[in-house]
Amino acid sequence: MAKIIDGKKVAERVKADVKQETSKLKERGISVTLAVVIVGDDPASHVYVKNKRKDCEDVGFISIEHALPADIEQDELSALIERLNADTLVDGILVQLPLPPHIDESVIINSISPDKDVDAFHPQNVGHMMIGDIGDFAFLPCTPAGVMELIKETGVEIQGKNCVVIGRSNIVGKPMAMLLLHEHGTVTICHSRTQNLAQICRGADILVAAVGRAGFVTADMLKESAVVIDVGMNKNAEGKLCGDVDYQGCFDKAGYITPVPGGVGPMTRAMLMKNTLTAAKKKELLT
Ligand code: GUN
Repeated sequence: MAKIIDGKKVAERVKADVKQETSKLKERGISVTLAVVIVGDDPASHVYVKNKRKDCEDVGFISIEHALPADIEQDELSALIERLNADTLVDGILVQLPLPPHIDESVIINSISPDKDVDAFHPQNVGHMMIGDIGDFAFLPCTPAGVMELIKETGVEIQGKNCVVIGRSNIVGKPMAMLLLHEHGTVTICHSRTQNLAQICRGADILVAAVGRAGFVTADMLKESAVVIDVGMNKNAEGKLCGDVDYQGCFDKAGYITPVPGGVGPMTRAMLMKNTLTAAKKKELLT
């Protein structure tokens, strides 16, 4: 029977550390500010942004929100990013994705100052991670970094283990594979065109599912006692949030498993707070 990895608990711990460091900075007259930019009316995006605002309050950050209409011109959005880049009071900038189709997402992401890029989506930060330049002041993408914390929580060593990542997105799959590789895992990335996917998964000591399909990972795809991390955020037929893993079906076979909700989700949010604090500390160091 699997042990449940409690993402809420680990996230609270990360946030408590961030809060403590933030209050120490405050004693020195330094505040930490996150600017969040949201374009359009996507309800899910607005929920995410609301949660980020609450996280900022919890840890003692100042949060600034720019809610822009869906039909905003790209130039206008770029001009806002430029202003936030230049604003010395702003430590971190997050542009909530997805952006409306008429806006070139990569142009916008690339225009965020790498020193304020708390999502770690800027090619410069992606590059640092890729070459293993992962020091104290590195920005790591929030979801994969959160997953690494959850794996560490199990006490299972990554070095030399077979790690299988299902999904190859720029936000999760690819950086996830890099972070596991950095910890000396033997990493395989599977995706929609992978042949013998189930067989590859059965070789995984650590399996990270980031597919975007409810119940995709079933018990027959698991190695006995595997660490199973579920990055999925899907809605089932009844509209209930569920992951990529058939949780009930996999529970008896897995060694460790993350629930949805209460697994990776809270960690993503906590790591954003950590990155924002890092941005403030980095600025402090540079000024
Ligand atoms: N939309 C869904 N996930 C994310 C994320 O991690 N960062 C941003 N900026 N937008 C998102």
